[in-house]
Amino acid sequence: MRVRKAVIPAAGLGTRFLPATKAVPKEMLPIIDVPTIQYIVKEAADSGIEDVIFVTGRGKNAIIDHFDYYPELEEKLEQQGKRDLLAALRETSSMAKVVSIRQQEPRGLGDAVLCARELVGDEPFVVLLGDDLVDSAVPCARQMIDVFEQYNKSVVALMRVPTDEVSSFGICGGEPLGERAYNLDTMMEKPAVHDAPSNLAIVGRYILKPSIFGYLERVDPGPGKELQLTDAMALMMAEEGFVGCEITGERYDTGDKFGFLQANIAFGLKRRDIAPRLRAYMRDILQQEI
Ligand code: UTP
Repeated sequence: MRVRKAVIPAAGLGTRFLPATKAVPKEMLPIIDVPTIQYIVKEAADSGIEDVIFVTGRGKNAIIDHFDYYPELEEKLEQQGKRDLLAALRETSSMAKVVSIRQQEPRGLGDAVLCARELVGDEPFVVLLGDDLVDSAVPCARQMIDVFEQYNKSVVALMRVPTDEVSSFGICGGEPLGERAYNLDTMMEKPAVHDAPSNLAIVGRYILKPSIFGYLERVDPGPGKELQLTDAMALMMAEEGFVGCEITGERYDTGDKFGFLQANIAFGLKRRDIAPRLRAYMRDILQQEI
């Protein structure tokens, strides 16, 4: 069955980015001039997704507004002849069909996905975390949909990390299945270095069969009463199998301060209007430090 729908959980509190995220959703913090979540919706649209379901919460209305039409502003830009800005504005409201559902309280990623059950219905769907950016030639979700279509099993995105960093990630283990695909037999949340089955870390992208909702209902909330998506995925792996897809591209955790800065610099260095000055500035300040 074709993957047509995306769920983007964006109801978290963003505590690592306080005070910036007190009144502004962290998913709206811009990488230069484009909110992080817009890159994610674009990735979904470029991967063939037609319907986007945002899971939002208190104080997250700016996300919905961002993807809505703004006729008054469009008219003004049109009158002023600001064609580039007009095109950029129109892109935000035409990338995909967008709906939203509220998560009453941030009770974990698993609970956020469960909130989208009715809107997803009985079909496979992609989950893209609202603060995880992947910059790649083939959109990350597309890479995963291709693997899903090949093996007809739920798929999680994986990326190799330095061995001494495995304890900061969810880590998977399994047997190679094909090019960049693994038949998974282990999923561990933040393992000690000596317990880790590999250095393949989970990235915030998943293709899930609708049976995930049944597994989510079976798992108990973990510490902090949060329902963990990985607990339900581990059950699914044991009963139906789960495939890992080692994706290509650069990943940025924009919910983390350093990751956010990295993304701004990397994307700035790719922009023709910014790169020359940014490169010169970085050269200057690095020289001053030596
Ligand atoms: P994070 O754990 O990175 O987000 O969840 P957070 O809780 O907002 O961040 P900190 O740790 O407090 O800084 C990854 C994604 O899942 C969403 C978040 O909005 C984020 O995009 N999420 C998380 C939900 O939608 N609901 C939740 O209950 C938890």
